[in-house]
Amino acid sequence: MSVNSPALRVSRSKLNIEPRRVKFEFDDFDSPLYYDKNGCLSAMWVALSASFPAGEGEFIKSVKLYEDQISEPKLKQEVKNFVHQEAHHSLQHKHINKMFDDLGYDAAGLHDFFTAKLKEREQKWSPERRLARTVCAEHVTAVMANHALTHPEHMAKFPASFRNLFLWHSIEEIEHKSVAFDVYTQCVNDRKLLHREYKYFLRREFPFNLYMSSRFLLKKMGHKATWKERAGVWRALYGKGGLFSAMRPLYKSFLSENFHPWDHDDSALVAEFKQTLAPYFIQH
Ligand SMILES: [Fe+2]
Ligand SMILES: [Fe+2]
Repeated sequence: MSVNSPALRVSRSKLNIEPRRVKFEFDDFDSPLYYDKNGCLSAMWVALSASFPAGEGEFIKSVKLYEDQISEPKLKQEVKNFVHQEAHHSLQHKHINKMFDDLGYDAAGLHDFFTAKLKEREQKWSPERRLARTVCAEHVTAVMANHALTHPEHMAKFPASFRNLFLWHSIEEIEHKSVAFDVYTQCVNDRKLLHREYKYFLRREFPFNLYMSSRFLLKKMGHKATWKERAGVWRALYGKGGLFSAMRPLYKSFLSENFHPWDHDDSALVAEFKQTLAPYFIQH
């Protein structure tokens, strides 16, 4: 199917994107080295969480730039629900980031850095490029979400509140994984630009930011990483079942000619985890 096919110019979302609200108490952390007693891995997850409020703010803004150009009612409604979900993710990550600051991390400093960087990007980048980058980041997020829902042995190492935050965030990332993509296809539809942004984001910006942010947090906290901790990071990312190794096929699929996020149907995972997480959902 060509990317200009009419079949690709409608929303191909498979799931209902539910605008939920949740409540988590982040009161089960007893040490800054909360993940496997490993400072590097703990800082890496803090860095990721600290990047979400600014990053998700940019996802929302870049999609909303095209809101008026969307004529399909289904996609219009999905954009509204996508905005609700991302805004609520930001809010919950702000809560846990505050707790990380109390534990001795400088999540607030990282947040300020990301906010300034994205503000600058707003001025310099075209709307097409901003949306393309959001589509790329949304794919990476959805692949990480899939990994979180399919690797309980990794998730078990988090304190329960952080694990549940990630699992809830993950089901919603999967629910709305095609929204930015479908907006891009309907309004911009330039795969060359998309692939260029993806390669840069996935191979350079994302790993570089994660590494530098973790280093920044550890340095500010005065924690000197041991070789054992560094080896633990290597295993967690590149070892058997590691975050980057296990996700390679799904990461690569984005570059196939007619890729769509729902080519990989992980809707059954969402159904399963919605049941597990139901106690944390606030009923309207
Ligand atoms: Fe999100
Ligand atoms: Fe998202």
